[in-house]
Parts: sequence; structure tokens; C-alpha cells
Amino acid sequence: MKKILLSIMVLLISSSWAQATKEKLFPVPYPPFSKKDIFPCMNCHEGLDRNKKVRKLKDMHEEINVEQHGDRWCYDCHDERNLDKLRLANGQQIRFQESYILCGQCHGNVFEQWKNGIHGKRTGFWNGEKQYLLCVHCHDPHTPRFKAVKPDPAPIRPDAHKFKKNKH
Ligand code: HEC
Ligand code: HEC
Ligand code: HEC
Ligand code: HEC
Repeated sequence: MKKILLSIMVLLISSSWAQATKEKLFPVPYPPFSKKDIFPCMNCHEGLDRNKKVRKLKDMHEEINVEQHGDRWCYDCHDERNLDKLRLANGQQIRFQESYILCGQCHGNVFEQWKNGIHGKRTGFWNGEKQYLLCVHCHDPHTPRFKAVKPDPAPIRPDAHKFKKNKH
């Protein structure tokens, strides 16, 4: 009897601890994958060996370049056991729908602002249901910095032909 009580207590304590360390989940739309057949990743990776060597990829994902995101490599964020999941620094697996937790590990201030609807985009009711956009709906997780916008050429004057004639 004592043993049972003890194990129930251990169970209760550990489950409330797990609850406390778990981030609250936010309602988000489906992750913005580039093409339909890129997910589940394990469709291809089930039969592929993991290659943890930092290298330029050439047979697949050759467009991905993480050099511009701190000093990260694929398996800092993707779970090597199951590529259908992301991975936190403590080894915990999360779903792609929860990628804001991954980003929040290093961008804590922005994450706090995002939760409060100051950063990013939150829609819905102030006192009711809300929808959040994932960080990756706006930022490429691999090259997150926005590219400088290329300025458009100056508009052409409607009477430009008059000036063209005078050339030569
Ligand atoms: C900073 C964390 C981070 C790093 C480092 C990282 N990824 Fe990702 N990656 C993500 C997140 C988050 C997503 C999910 C984007 C989404 O939800 O659409 C993603 C998406 C992807 C996708 C799906 C892209 C698509 O076409 O929609 C592929 C493939 C991928 N990563 C491969 C890689 C490879 C290969 C590397 C290493 C060269 C890498 N990732 C490094 C965080 C990372
Ligand atoms: C159509 C098949 C295919 C799909 C789908 C696919 N991959 Fe890959 N992936 C590959 C191939 C092939 C390579 C090896 C590329 C190379 O070595 O040049 C690779 C390499 C990688 C690597 C580099 C490290 C390693 O172990 O080789 C990561 C990380 C990775 N993929 C993550 C993902 C993620 C995350 C997804 C899903 C969002 C995904 N892949 C979907 C085929 C695929
Ligand atoms: C392990 C830490 C780490 C994680 C996880 C991480 N980042 Fe970063 N991020 C950095 C660092 C460091 C820089 C600065 C890189 C630089 O300037 O070279 C950066 C830069 C950025 C920038 C550019 C900031 C600027 O000043 O323009 C954005 C945007 C960004 N990250 C978004 C994200 C998103 C979205 C995620 C989740 C998919 C993420 N980060 C995950 C460490 C991280
Ligand atoms: C609706 C789009 C959107 C969403 C969602 C979003 N961001 Fe941003 N983010 C922006 C814009 C726009 C900027 C400003 C870019 C600039 O000024 O160059 C920015 C700037 C940043 C910067 C650099 C400036 C700073 O304040 O440090 C970081 C880091 C960043 N975002 C991280 C994140 C993270 C992490 C998330 C998710 C928790 C996220 N963002 C969600 C649009 C978004």
C-alpha cells in the first residue's frame, strides 16, 4: 500500500513538473512548407543515413544555406532520430506547428512580444479565440534576415518620347 501511494505521489509530482516546463501551445495555421511532397521528411529519410558533416548540400535542399543564421547546422534544429520533428537545445522533440518554441530559445524578447501580439501577426478576439502566424510564416528559418529590397527603376515620364527625339 505504502509503495502504491508513493508511486502515485511520484507520478503526480513528475507530471506537474512536466506541465510546468512545457510551453503553452498557440493556435497556428499549417506550417508554410515550400512544396507538398517535402513533408513528411521521413518519406525519403527513412532509407537515408544521417550525415552530420557540415557541408554544402548538392543532391537535395541545395537552396538551403544556414551560414547566415548564427553558427547553426541542420541538427541544431532538426531531430536526427526523426526528421519529421524539430529539436530543442535540451533534446526535446517538438512538432513543426510549435517551431516558435525553437525560435524563442534564442530570441526570447521577440518571443514574448509575439505571444502578446506586439511582434508578428495575431488575429481574432482580444478576449477570445486567437490565431498566431508562426515566425517562419514571415522569416525563412535558414536565412532569416530580410533581403534588402531592390529599388524599382524611376517611373517613365508620359512625355518621354519628346525627349528621345532630341537625342543624337
Ligand atoms: C535555426 C534552426 C534551423 C536550422 C539550423 C536548420 N533548419 Fe531546416 N527548418 C527549420 C524550421 C523551423 C523549419 C520549418 C519551416 C516551416 O514550418 O515551413 C525548417 C524547414 C526545413 C525544410 C523544409 C523546407 C521547405 O521546403 O519547406 C528542410 C528541407 C530543411 N529545413 C532542411 C534543413 C537542412 C538541410 C539544414 C542544414 C543545412 C537545416 N534545415 C537547418 C529550422 C532550421
Ligand atoms: C525527396 C526526398 C527528400 C525529402 C522529402 C526530404 N529530404 Fe532531406 N535530404 C534528401 C537527400 C537526398 C539528402 C542528401 C543531400 C546531400 O547530401 O547533398 C538530404 C539531406 C538532408 C539533411 C542534411 C543532413 C543529412 O543527414 O544528410 C537534412 C538535415 C535534411 N535533409 C532534412 C530534411 C527535412 C527536415 C525534410 C522535411 C521538411 C527533408 N529533409 C525532406 C532527401 C529528402
Ligand atoms: C540557437 C540560437 C538560435 C535559434 C534557435 C534561432 N536563432 Fe535566429 N538568430 C540567432 C543569431 C545568433 C542571430 C544573429 C545572426 C547574425 O547576425 O549572423 C539570429 C538572427 C535572426 C534574425 C535576423 C535578425 C536581424 O537583426 O535581422 C531573425 C529574423 C531570426 N534570427 C529569426 C529566427 C527564427 C524565425 C527562428 C526559429 C525558426 C530562429 N531565429 C532560431 C540565433 C538563433
Ligand atoms: C507577420 C510577420 C512576422 C512574424 C509572424 C514574426 N516576425 Fe519577426 N519580424 C517581422 C518584421 C516585419 C520584422 C522587421 C524587419 C526589419 O525591420 O528589418 C521582424 C524582425 C525580427 C527580428 C529582428 C529585429 C528584432 O526585433 O530583434 C527578429 C530576431 C525576429 N523578427 C524574430 C521573430 C521570431 C522569433 C518570431 C516568432 C516568435 C517572429 N519574428 C515572428 C515580421 C514577423
